Amino acid sequence: MNQEMTNSARKRVLSGMRPTGRLHLGNYMGALKNWVGLQHQYECYFFIADYHALTTDYADTSALKQNVAEVVLDFLAAGLDPALCTIFRQSRVPAHFALNDLLAMITPLSWLERVPTYKDQQEQLREKDLATYGFLGYPLLQSADILLYQPEFVPVGQDQAAHVEITREIARRFNHLYGAKRSVLVAAGSDKERLAELEQQDDVRQILPEPKVLLTPSPKLPGTDGRKMSKSYGNTLLLSDPEAELRAKLKTMVTDPARVRRTDPGNPEVCPVFDLHKVFSTPEVQANAAEGCRTAGIGCIQCKSWVADAIVAELAPMQERRRHFEANPGEVAAILEDGAQQANARAAQTMQQVYAAVGLD
Ligand code: TRP
Ligand code: SF4
Repeated sequence: MNQEMTNSARKRVLSGMRPTGRLHLGNYMGALKNWVGLQHQYECYFFIADYHALTTDYADTSALKQNVAEVVLDFLAAGLDPALCTIFRQSRVPAHFALNDLLAMITPLSWLERVPTYKDQQEQLREKDLATYGFLGYPLLQSADILLYQPEFVPVGQDQAAHVEITREIARRFNHLYGAKRSVLVAAGSDKERLAELEQQDDVRQILPEPKVLLTPSPKLPGTDGRKMSKSYGNTLLLSDPEAELRAKLKTMVTDPARVRRTDPGNPEVCPVFDLHKVFSTPEVQANAAEGCRTAGIGCIQCKSWVADAIVAELAPMQERRRHFEANPGEVAAILEDGAQQANARAAQTMQQVYAAVGLD
């Protein structure tokens, strides 16, 4: 960290993740690895969206506690450092819900209904009844999560871009409604035209600044069945999988389907194993694997063992950290308590401005 820069001088970053259980390589490459880098440059807040978990899994919360614990361990294992960033649970910062409820007053239903994930998820999770108030409010709660910290940037994958966009719209609406200096509003009185005019002006205070999305570049990361790595497909490589498990999973991974026999040449460009090489192997290993594949000079077992070596090496330091924190639950609990305290303190600053702007002070 740059010692010259105090926290208040650094730009703020916020992001969160739902507690879906142990994290996999896709979660790491698509989010966590990026967060670990950001903590050195920005004032970062990273949280576990345990309340969001309830929007889809309210009917059975038996796994929630364990899932939260696993994600915290994976955060710390991946290298999020509580000395550099604030790590906390959403449910431990009540202001998320206070701001959510205030923003609910000004958010048109139609904005929530047209968020693409709303209908998509309802279709995809047909076995769950998602015709709830809470599920419709998912993006609003996410907006509150974000705006509460007045961050400059929100690092997320492309799948979350629409949620950051609605966050910006809600912030803009809030600022227009409550950001005009009170004296100006009072002068406008009930003059609707004058109020409409004020809405057009730039002269509104940015109480809730519009955050920018920081898109995480996510390399193509297939799971063992060749489809995108995802918990719901059961094709993941977990950050916490022991070496033997990782190697066994990779051994059964699908390859170029045209390469049936060891003597058949293959095409790395259509092989999901090679997609993993592109992400994890050195250029030399990639070149050897590609050459060996095209000439049938190596077998798939050999090729997979090389990519396994690279993945095992990348995960080794994480797994060592995980073992440390697994053995020290008190340390993890203290990290979350500190994190909650820091997050609550930062949130209180925003809420003070918000209450004053709305007239609830
Ligand atoms: N919806 C996000 C996801 O599914 C998780 C999330 C909740 C989040 N609140 C957030 C991400 C605020 C960024 C900022 O991954
Ligand atoms: Fe895929 Fe490697 Fe087999 Fe070629 S040798 S088909 S790249 S696993």
